[in-house]
Amino acid sequence: MYIDDGHHWRLIRRLSRGCGSMLLLVTISAAAAPARAADAIQYFPEKKLWVINAGEATYAFGVNERNELQSLYWGAGIRAEDLPAAHSVAGWSSFDPSTSATPQEYPGWGGAFYGEPVLKATFPDGNREVILHYVAQKLANDFLEITLQDEGSALTVELRYRVYPDSGIVERSSRIENRTSDPVILESAQSAAWTLLPGAHARLQYLTGEWAGEWQVQSEELPVGQRALESRRGSTSAEVNPWFAIGQAGATEERGQVWFGALAWSGSWRMTVERSARSQVRVTGGINAFDFSYALAPGESLETPPFYAGLTAGGMGQASRLLHRFELADIIPGGLHARLRPILYNGWEAQMPVNEAAQIGAAEKAARLGVERFVVDAGWFGSKDDGGVGDWYVNPQKFPHGLKPLIDRVHALGMDFGLWVEPESVSGKSELYREHPGWIMTYPNRRPINVDGSFVLNLARDDVKEWTFAWLDRLVSENDIALLKWDYNRNWIQPGWPQAPVGDQKKIWVRYVQNLYEILDRLRARHPRLEIETCSGGGGRVDLGILRRTDQAWPSDNTDALDRLSIQSGFSQVYTPHLMIDWVTDAPDWLHARATPLKYRFLVAMTGALALGVDLNKLTPEDNALATKMIALYKEIRLTVQNGKLYRLRSPGDANFSATEYVSDDGRQVVVFAFLHAQQFGTSVPRLSLRGLDTSAVYRLRTIDQAVEGIDTASGTDLMHRGLQLKLRGDYDSTLLILTRITE
Ligand code: DGJ
Repeated sequence: MYIDDGHHWRLIRRLSRGCGSMLLLVTISAAAAPARAADAIQYFPEKKLWVINAGEATYAFGVNERNELQSLYWGAGIRAEDLPAAHSVAGWSSFDPSTSATPQEYPGWGGAFYGEPVLKATFPDGNREVILHYVAQKLANDFLEITLQDEGSALTVELRYRVYPDSGIVERSSRIENRTSDPVILESAQSAAWTLLPGAHARLQYLTGEWAGEWQVQSEELPVGQRALESRRGSTSAEVNPWFAIGQAGATEERGQVWFGALAWSGSWRMTVERSARSQVRVTGGINAFDFSYALAPGESLETPPFYAGLTAGGMGQASRLLHRFELADIIPGGLHARLRPILYNGWEAQMPVNEAAQIGAAEKAARLGVERFVVDAGWFGSKDDGGVGDWYVNPQKFPHGLKPLIDRVHALGMDFGLWVEPESVSGKSELYREHPGWIMTYPNRRPINVDGSFVLNLARDDVKEWTFAWLDRLVSENDIALLKWDYNRNWIQPGWPQAPVGDQKKIWVRYVQNLYEILDRLRARHPRLEIETCSGGGGRVDLGILRRTDQAWPSDNTDALDRLSIQSGFSQVYTPHLMIDWVTDAPDWLHARATPLKYRFLVAMTGALALGVDLNKLTPEDNALATKMIALYKEIRLTVQNGKLYRLRSPGDANFSATEYVSDDGRQVVVFAFLHAQQFGTSVPRLSLRGLDTSAVYRLRTIDQAVEGIDTASGTDLMHRGLQLKLRGDYDSTLLILTRITE
């Protein structure tokens, strides 16, 4: 590890021996400090330059002559030695001085600066200026911490950088500390600003949605000026997901430079994408500064959430694959050793009555099909007709002997057990609300407003956090629960915190999320085998922050197979199919009354983590046989689908025909799903070229039907260049191909 205290270099190498460790401290002069090529992050002291070797990309910044930390380069991999020292950009006019034109890594709002600031503060004497200068650094191979300090005060910032070698993704965050002797109010505290030069006609891609219509990919030419992607709803939200991708002109699914990034924050967030008249692009992001105010007493600090970003020349498809790899290796609990998602059954959409007899009956039928986990959804708790969200005890009418008889039966059938909870909501009719009306978020002297009869519990309060943790801990301790489906069916209403001092009430935006994370972390620590699903009325809370603490995600309440193809394709832009729970449900579906064949519904659900939500009492013997066959088939391909490399061969939005391919990590298994939505004029689907195969290998082909005739084996080159002609006909036809590499 290097520590630069501004005067000397100290090379510290920690040598571990057994459980003890030894520190070796060497002091060397700045001029002699080495930059080791093998390091993920290199420092060139004579140039005051840092270079991050980020996969196929290079990311560089340095200290300029004004002592600002200046962004220098984020692009295709280049030799670190070729990069110059930082020098500020010349001003263009008195309206555009150098201090505004020079891209800083972490600009405070102060002096002549007109871009989006990363830090904005007000001091007690009325000063509202922060000008950050470089002070010191600590560097340890893949981790770098840089200290900046305000030119006129002891407000300091530690900027943190980490690079993940598997994916080349760079993590940035900051810690802002008040080292002055007076309180300082932060009004914006972003995680990072990224500078890129994508050239003319670059396109911005992002994901928008609403309940039952999440994960819609948007693409537009990046306008000059600002484009805000944000949530002001208190949680991640389905309206926009905290992810961006910027492709250079002409970038496609398969090629072209794409810069991308995602925030790890489950509260209100914002990414501000700015394009200057001279085509410099900046993406600033973190906790949303809207209604934000965070007072730091002397000695206090605020940590901002990680903002991850990467760059590839392999188009949108490779950007997704890098994110998937990163999530599997470095985000999800258990990382690459995480259990593959078991096939679950949940009777919510089939309106399966929630009582002991009905649920045991469903469990028996589900087990016969090969289901591995049985989940009871809403309705098991409280004593009210509306469920009484907040009254977290087992409903004595529905489960007179508690949950134990059901859980025991589920175990005896060879499955594990999951249970739905919605810890952050409280019904106005609940006993909890009657006893603790002050636990909801609301404003003083205002009429508490609810949506659909429920309020949001103010988890920012430590007593509410403790109460919530205690009942969840008790529930999981007293019942053998393998999965909590953690639902959150509302966004914030009246985000007030009347019990806190007025100057601290807006901290609710931060404290709530910190306490939510703490509950999840403590629950997992106390119950290491417990898994958690993130659900917010569908895909309303999926982000890299919650995914550090949850094992799977519910993308949408819309389970219509046709809609699901685009929902799931959108989800896959950012998040790995490993996390994506896809139920096979009844047809006609509840949203459009669209009737799709059971095989089509199964294959759509099998492109992620297969699950079942059908009414098991309505399945015919033929349906049962098909379901059993598909579930068995899924178990054969699950590793490839959940942890392999995903190629969106044809997007559902493009035409009537869509296809997705997965290649296992060892390249031995390749799985291809293809869907024809509506055939017209008797035309055949276009030939399908596969991707990511070994050109020198031969593959054996297997289909679940006769969608490919007369071909048993084919070479990687043939499959990728000439492709396959699939026989799909009519409406909602579908097929699955499994290819096995038969040569080394
Ligand atoms: C919304 C979820 O997305 C559904 O799957 C179901 O759990 C309901 N909430 C229950 O209220």
